[in-house]
Amino acid sequence: MISRRGFLGLLGGTGLVVAGCGAGGGLTAEVSGEVLTSALPLPRPFTVPLPVPATARPVRPGRYEVVQRAAKVEIVPGTATEVWGYDGTFPGPTFDLRRGNRTVVRVRNELPVPTSTHLHGGVNPPDSDGYPTDLVVARGRGFRPPPGAHSHSGAGDMSQWTIHPGAKDYVYPLDQPAATLWYHDHRMDFTAPQVWRGLAGFLLVRDDEDDALPLPKGERDIPLMICDRAFEEDGSFRYPSLDPSLLVKPGVREAYMEGVEGDVILVNGAPWPVLEVDAARYRLRLLNASNARRYRLALTPGGRFVQVGGDQGLLAAPVGHDAITVAPGERFDVVVDFSAHPVGTEVTLVNTLGTGPARNVMRFRVARRVRDDSAVPDRLGRVDPLDRSAAVATRVFDFRRTGQGGGGSWTINGRPYRPGVPLARPRLGTVELWRFTGDFHHPVHVHLARFQVLSRNGRPPAPTDAGWKDTVDVRPYEVVDTLVRFEGYRGRYMMHCHTLEHEDMAMMADFDVV
Ligand code: C2O
Ligand code: CU
Repeated sequence: MISRRGFLGLLGGTGLVVAGCGAGGGLTAEVSGEVLTSALPLPRPFTVPLPVPATARPVRPGRYEVVQRAAKVEIVPGTATEVWGYDGTFPGPTFDLRRGNRTVVRVRNELPVPTSTHLHGGVNPPDSDGYPTDLVVARGRGFRPPPGAHSHSGAGDMSQWTIHPGAKDYVYPLDQPAATLWYHDHRMDFTAPQVWRGLAGFLLVRDDEDDALPLPKGERDIPLMICDRAFEEDGSFRYPSLDPSLLVKPGVREAYMEGVEGDVILVNGAPWPVLEVDAARYRLRLLNASNARRYRLALTPGGRFVQVGGDQGLLAAPVGHDAITVAPGERFDVVVDFSAHPVGTEVTLVNTLGTGPARNVMRFRVARRVRDDSAVPDRLGRVDPLDRSAAVATRVFDFRRTGQGGGGSWTINGRPYRPGVPLARPRLGTVELWRFTGDFHHPVHVHLARFQVLSRNGRPPAPTDAGWKDTVDVRPYEVVDTLVRFEGYRGRYMMHCHTLEHEDMAMMADFDVV
């Protein structure tokens, strides 16, 4: 049980990339990965218009079909990038759905690799949750479990795997409040490279309560998927691959074990895009879909974010922020009022944790004065605050790296992930206190259950911790207490670190809701 799996090989087969990875170089207390440098000249920022992903169309009411396939798209102007995307797009189509409308999404896989689709933030039956060994394999392709030395799943043992040939129907009851959810690949051992290649998109749950608020709507309600990538000279994605058969240079595995960051920031799949806006309020649904990069988002020359929602929907009341730190997997639903700026102003969304070009995210150009009927009311959603006394059990989950050299692994409570071996058995309908801590940046994500942050290092939570969450930014050696409510379904679910390279290197655990 030493080497979990060879971490590094090649994705595009075009040469191993070691640029920019002087071991540990440049890591600061706030930086959570190692930057991979692009081989092509970086695109000029703020020239590409912000794309908004297409809305998925049902094949009939309540039924959708989406195909995972490869496609060539233009991300960096003048070059073609092969993406692996839902319907061949990156981001995939946005599912715009209503609370209570049970929806079936058939995912057909036409990729050369197995996939598993997880709806992040969804309250779904266990067999529709996108468990990492519950795979869809393209028609005509076989599946063999990876050899023991390269997997956390048990050598050659098929008992932990479920294989759906061709396609799988995921059932989403949507019995949950309006929220910005997202879906992405969750394949055992390979989530990081497969999401990097494009397997991610939005799913918005809407409901009457949210609709009734005078928040900005329609064209002024925009989901923003923020992530970083690096590119080869020919425009293809650059990534140190996880293919164990291509294992090379042990020092390189070490360098990227902390997580892979790119030097190009994409919003909705476009590099440093620009959006012309009215001098009005906008509702921006911010998602950090990066493998490892954290962002501290701010507006320059100025402006505030008025947060109206978190991971799991509306806050009880708006919270104003000058800056918002977003860890991988987290969502912040904010209102920005561009009427505060004269027409012609360029407002840049920046990442103050980034350096060089990665400091920029995107730009808004205030184009015209308009009439704006929107408002941010003082009261938003219903969030009943949980009290510590509600917890029927307390559990500690320690996220830590064990072992040194090429054989190190990311673990929870000292254990590398084993599918089917639960670390906890919470009871349906109860609340538990889950304490998260660890040795590095570990954004902790719990499937199925939502939680409220109770404290950080024994002190009150951060202003950005408000509301119901499903992912929490746990910083090095920080102790984060959460109250987790187990609702929805019994069965096998999981929690894990959402730095995807950590997740792939075994930083996951099952829990059974009983
Ligand atoms: Cu967004 Cu289990 O993941
Ligand atoms: Cu981690």
